Amino acid sequence: MAASEATAGGAGGHAGEGGSRRDFLTLVTLATAAVGVCAVAWPFIDSMDPAADTIAAGSPVDVDLSHIQPGQQVVVLWREKPILIVNRTPAALKTLQDKSMIDRLSDPNSKVDQQPPYAENWHRSVKPDYAVLVGICTHLGCLPGYWPNPSQTTPVADWPGGYLCPCHGSKYDLAGRVWKFVPAPYNLPVPPYNFVDEHTVRIGENPTGQDWTLNDVVQI
Ligand code: FES
Repeated sequence: MAASEATAGGAGGHAGEGGSRRDFLTLVTLATAAVGVCAVAWPFIDSMDPAADTIAAGSPVDVDLSHIQPGQQVVVLWREKPILIVNRTPAALKTLQDKSMIDRLSDPNSKVDQQPPYAENWHRSVKPDYAVLVGICTHLGCLPGYWPNPSQTTPVADWPGGYLCPCHGSKYDLAGRVWKFVPAPYNLPVPPYNFVDEHTVRIGENPTGQDWTLNDVVQI
């Protein structure tokens, strides 16, 4: 199994304060393996599961978006990395453009090379409705938890919706843009991807005419 539904506030990897980035990335690998096991419980997600040899080869992975409800996130593995795919609601898209949200961000205009050129926009994606992100915290590599709903209390006070890394508290919005004054230095990476039709996204393949790889990001 290589794909799973991620519930809001899903657990991330964790290690002691003294751990290195390598330690954390090892935990990410273990945690994503656990994610794969959990996929057994969600048959419709299983329908998006690519063949094992496809994963092993690092080939592009196709994901059917038609089952992802507004506000829902799914996680697929591509090249052993968790790829977060979110069907963002109109309210979430509005929050991304809200000045009070933008003022909290370290790199709101995606000036640092953490995404392909075709995702260097306010929604950091090909289509505004769908976020496609590498789910590895740019601090030490934990898995950020998905907390999409605004709340006065949860997971922290005055929460606008986004991702919270459980290891050292780094925060990201629903476009993977990192907040100011948190340990993580960069936005979450965006992988190469394109839409092969209206409801199918292909992770690992650029749109026609583009040549970009994850090797081009500042940090993953
Ligand atoms: S790994 Fe330290 S905040 Fe995410």
